Amino acid sequence: MQQTVQIALDERSYPIVIGAGLLGSPSTWQGLPKAHAALIVTNTTVDPLYGAQLAAALAPIYPQVHRVVLPDGEAFKTWESLNLIFDALLGHGCDRKTVLFALGGGVVGDMTGFAAASYMRGVPFVQVPTTLLAQVDSSVGGKTAINHPLGKNMIGAFYQPVRVVCDLDTLKTVPERELSAGLAEVIKYGPIADMAFLDWIEANLDALRARDPQALAHAIRRSCEIKADVVGQDEREAGLRAILNFGHTFGHAIEAGMGYGAWLHGEAVGGGMVMAARLSQALGLCDEAFVQRLHGVVSRAGLPTVAPVIDAADNAGRYLALMRLDKKSEAGDIKFVLVNGQGQAQMRGAPDALVRQVIDACCVAA
Ligand code: NAD
Ligand code: GLY
Repeated sequence: MQQTVQIALDERSYPIVIGAGLLGSPSTWQGLPKAHAALIVTNTTVDPLYGAQLAAALAPIYPQVHRVVLPDGEAFKTWESLNLIFDALLGHGCDRKTVLFALGGGVVGDMTGFAAASYMRGVPFVQVPTTLLAQVDSSVGGKTAINHPLGKNMIGAFYQPVRVVCDLDTLKTVPERELSAGLAEVIKYGPIADMAFLDWIEANLDALRARDPQALAHAIRRSCEIKADVVGQDEREAGLRAILNFGHTFGHAIEAGMGYGAWLHGEAVGGGMVMAARLSQALGLCDEAFVQRLHGVVSRAGLPTVAPVIDAADNAGRYLALMRLDKKSEAGDIKFVLVNGQGQAQMRGAPDALVRQVIDACCVAA
């Protein structure tokens, strides 16, 4: 059964379509912007699995369907990969009506969105997320970016897709470790917005890890509903939207500190949520029972619950330095997303000494 969640952003509104068998179904692709050409952006892993299927489905709609296949991995979320997209667009003589299709996980989606935002000052693009993480988070809401060696997602733009198509069938081939990484972004929606959803996740974690289609469909729909609500209120992160970054301030430091790709984004968010919950508890915002509960669900999702040591000489200092580069920081003051254990989040700073204690308590050397 097909379900739709709407992102309400006035003239930039769009549907998120969730269901099985969507990729190859002609009706999925009806009503998209008309153009002479489409460019499918994908990577070396996803292209052999789904590239031909999507190209065949788009062939009746667009006179030309081109494909560009990027190297796979967070380490390739770079200017060099972005330029491969521009090379393909210019090489094929693509005009400003060309529609881009992001076929892949969050890395492909973020890069394709940024390419779409900037090619000829903006062309339409469609998100076709093929990982759980991308279906519940990164394909929705219009954040696009590449990494800089000094910080994650530092170069980018807010640019909304015209449609998001989540085909549940693509999740059948996602490696187990990646599925767990996606569950981190599902779990985060509970503590920040909906504790009943956290109850549901706990009760259905085994079904989710076994890829039960009904469980996955519900998790994706509810995650997208919560994200749609937040993004609809605060598209460009003037305030509220930052709560979607629960666990990400610590998580981004783990990713950068370990070198992009060593820890999956979702794994870093999993460990980061436990650290953020521990900091919330240290500040008196939530109780120990909630920290233990979150620790338990993160662990059962197959995610790390202890953070890595990223600097043998001054681990906490390195975390703090990396977190000062976070986009939420203001004049070097780190802003954390903290939770109260009752489904509400807030942004606030914390004394360095307390953050150091939390880092020391949460980290172990590999
Ligand atoms: P990813 O894009 O690297 O995909 C994970 C791996 O799975 C890759 O090797 C990929 O090739 C492979 N893969 C993708 N689909 C597959 C399939 N169906 N079958 C088999 N293999 C498949 O990682 P991700 O977890 O999807 O996304 C992480 C990225 O998303 C990070 O760069 C993160 O910063 C970004 N992100 C962005 C937002 C946002 O709002 N824009 C939100 C969260 C995360
Ligand atoms: N993933 C965080 C956001 O979209 O704001």
